[in-house]
Amino acid sequence: MAPDALVRLDAVSKIFPGGIVGLDAVDLDIARGEFLTLLGPSGCGKTTSLRVIAGFESPSSGKVLLEGRDITALRPFDRPVNTVFQDYALFPHMNVAENVGFGLSLRKLSGTEQAKRVGEALDMVGLGDKIGARVSELSGGQRQRVALARAIVCEPRVLLLDEPLSALDAHLREQMQVELKRLQSRLGTTFVMVTHDQTEALSISDRIVVMNKGRIEQIAPPATLYDRPATKFVASFIGTMNLLQSRFVDRDGDRLRFTAGALPLEAISETGEAPGEGAVRTIGVRPEDLLVATEAASGTAPARVNSIVFHGRTLRLHAELGQGMPVVIDAPRRAEGFQFSVGDVAHISLRRGANCPMLSS
Ligand SMILES: Nc1ncnc2c1ncn2[C@@H]1O[C@H](COP(=O)(O)OP(=O)(O)OP(=O)(O)O)[C@@H](O)[C@H]1O
Ligand SMILES: [Mg+2]
Repeated sequence: MAPDALVRLDAVSKIFPGGIVGLDAVDLDIARGEFLTLLGPSGCGKTTSLRVIAGFESPSSGKVLLEGRDITALRPFDRPVNTVFQDYALFPHMNVAENVGFGLSLRKLSGTEQAKRVGEALDMVGLGDKIGARVSELSGGQRQRVALARAIVCEPRVLLLDEPLSALDAHLREQMQVELKRLQSRLGTTFVMVTHDQTEALSISDRIVVMNKGRIEQIAPPATLYDRPATKFVASFIGTMNLLQSRFVDRDGDRLRFTAGALPLEAISETGEAPGEGAVRTIGVRPEDLLVATEAASGTAPARVNSIVFHGRTLRLHAELGQGMPVVIDAPRRAEGFQFSVGDVAHISLRRGANCPMLSS
């Protein structure tokens, strides 16, 4: 166990009635004070992981540890953990202060102490002036903040957030991401958030856990996940990645040379090992790491442009390398007179210094 791990899932499995696998032998260390995000497609086990940590769901096998202590059998209310649910679950008949103070009233604090802490929590989420408002008078973003205030007022060691921003519009959502991150740094509380939005995960997290079918595919900080995805699943889930079937040619130091059709590629060997001569591997290439030119040159391969999509600063070209291999390229729009039309042949090459991962399945 990592020395600073606050929560640990130790080989946790959850099998639901009918044999449905919610979690499949998940090992996870959550560090004290980190902002950890669980990311993955619908049904991959994100909510189940949170519910197991909160104690609403007991594992079929495996253990939940808090600072090394086995809390698997502890009831939710006895854990120093609070949850913000996706639908906020506010009490509609109570005003803002009563909602936020609800958890405190169960703890038999004095009225003055309660009022002080409710006021502080509401100030923290920027809603000090809404203390007496009715929940029905609040916007979606404000309800979201009340739910947050209600969760932090009890000063949990771990705050669990299940898709907390999914009900908000894009603009408010981005604003709340910044605020959530700021709140987390200020409180120093461990946040575990669930999302299926990769952009949100990349922008807010210290580390991201990518899940697939009840298992963990990879745990890494955002930049590592983006630059060095370990598996095809992670590569295709985080941003856009061309997965090119490539043949190994030779190695040059720690650089492994491949060709995808006629396109020369270079990959970094993470392990220092090289595949056998002629072996076929999947190489991940980001659309922004491919360059287009009108003329063939050494290191280029022809690709027919099938469509051009406007993306603002860049144009996304969907093209086809030889043998029907699809490839996506992001080309700067203002580039010295971008001059391709659908049906043209572009000569594409790998940007010098591009870091292409060699992916396992
Ligand atoms: N109470 C339950 N009874 C039976 N199956 C369940 C139950 N809860 C979850 N599951 C199943 O376990 C799997 C994981 O569900 P979970 O809710 O953790 O997914 P998720 O990653 O949160 O998905 P989403 O993004 O859709 O919220 C799914 O196949 C789901 O159908
Ligand atoms: Mg869920």
